[in-house]
Parts: sequence; structure tokens; C-alpha cells
Amino acid sequence: MPYLKTILALSLALLAGATASMAQARSLEEIKASGKMIVATEGGYPPFNYFQGSKLTGFEVELAEAIVKKMGLAIEWKSLSFDALLAGLKQDRWDMVIASFGITDERAKAVTFNSPEYCSGGVIVSRDPAIRTAASLAGKTVAVQTGTTYLENVKKVPGIKEVKNFPQDTDARSALVNGRVDAWVSDRFVVKTAIETSPKSGLKSGDFLYVEKIASAVKKGNLPLAAAIDRALAEVMADGTYKAISEKYLKEDVRCK
Ligand code: ARG
Repeated sequence: MPYLKTILALSLALLAGATASMAQARSLEEIKASGKMIVATEGGYPPFNYFQGSKLTGFEVELAEAIVKKMGLAIEWKSLSFDALLAGLKQDRWDMVIASFGITDERAKAVTFNSPEYCSGGVIVSRDPAIRTAASLAGKTVAVQTGTTYLENVKKVPGIKEVKNFPQDTDARSALVNGRVDAWVSDRFVVKTAIETSPKSGLKSGDFLYVEKIASAVKKGNLPLAAAIDRALAEVMADGTYKAISEKYLKEDVRCK
């Protein structure tokens, strides 16, 4: 039956083509063999990941560099918008993501989180000293970065007038500085840095809205890679490297206690 054979040959060819064009998740062995790990971050979230001119820097950038060095590898950075980062793991576009992602059940369905890199939380910021607690957000307009746990948690506060989303956290901050919103919710250290770098902005930091554990992540189920990263992170935490990086950018040791 030559006809059937042709169909069979055709489908096999199609299948082979599909497999070849589908990027494969890189195993730990493949990463080691290539000598470098591809790490993605945002670059718009000082003091954790940001640009100093054209150079990517910050607590998470130096921490990732220390971790990858312990693994005996070089690092290749990618910087993308925050909401593209986790999806790129699934698409095998990079090996690891580090961009202050809080560990949530929802995200843990899509990616594998490594051990926490630090513990922090979202704080309420305003120019109005009367706005500093969750209750005082009633009837107010609040700015947050899209896709963050800030958005998720602000939505749970009863009585808020409007939640305004911004693709970048720095734009959410600007909205507050320019008086277009009543409050901004962001990370405690991001807020501290913003107040220190622009003392004239009149921003005041209020209560924590919630606390969270922050971790880097790898593709869902890449457990050997996650284990190797966790080992390297533990070493960096034990040998004083972590403490030095943390104190450099955050003036304290922010590891989870
Ligand atoms: N911690 C918050 C979250 O888990 C915000 C992270 C924002 N990170 C960034 N690179 N802009 O969603």
C-alpha cells in the first residue's frame, strides 16, 4: 500500500520537524556543558534589579552572579518586562528568573521556585500622612505594578476606589509623586530606596500590607537545576558573600529567618 506508506512517512517527517523546532528545556548537564547559565530579570526595580547606565546591577544581580559563580558557570543576562519573565521559563528562553517574585501557590503551579533569596513585604506609601494603614485606603486610588503580588493584595482591601496598574513599578511610583493617585504599594526596600534617592518627593512609608518570601525560579520540574542553585545559594549564605551583598544594597541582612 504505497499510499499508506506515504502518509506514514509524511507524518513522521512532520513530527520530526515539530520536535526540532521546539526548544528543549536545558538540563543541568547541558547548562554545565555550555559553561553558562542564562538568567532573566527585569531591570526596573531598584535596589533589587536595575540599570546603572547600561549596566545591570542590584542586590539580585550580584546575588545571582555569586550563585552562578559557585556553580562554576558564567552568566548571560536577559532583561525583559516583568510580566514576560515566568512565561519565558516555560518556553525555554532562559534557565532561571530572578526578579523579586514572591512565592505564591498560583505561581508555583507554573514554575519551580528555588529556596527563598530574601523575606520582605509590600508597604503602603503615600504623600498624605493620614494614609498608612489598609483601612485608610478606603475610597482611595492606589497604584501598583501589573502582575505583582501588590496588585493581588491591594485588590483584597475592601473599599478601595480604584487600583491603577502600571507595567513598571517606577511608573506606579511616579503616579504617586505626581499626585495622580493617593497611594502606591511596593516592596519595603524599593520604597526605602525611593525615599532616600528623592527626599523631596514627600513620600511616606506606612504599614506592611502583607509579607512574603521571595525566590528565584526555574522551569517547572527542573529539580536537578533547582537543587544545584539551592546548594550554591546555601554556600553563598554561609561564606559571608550574601551578607556583604545584602548590606551593600539594603543596609541589612535580608535573608529569611
Ligand atoms: N514582590 C512582588 C511580586 O512578587 C513584586 C516583584 C516585582 N519585581 C520586579 N522586578 N519589578 O510580585
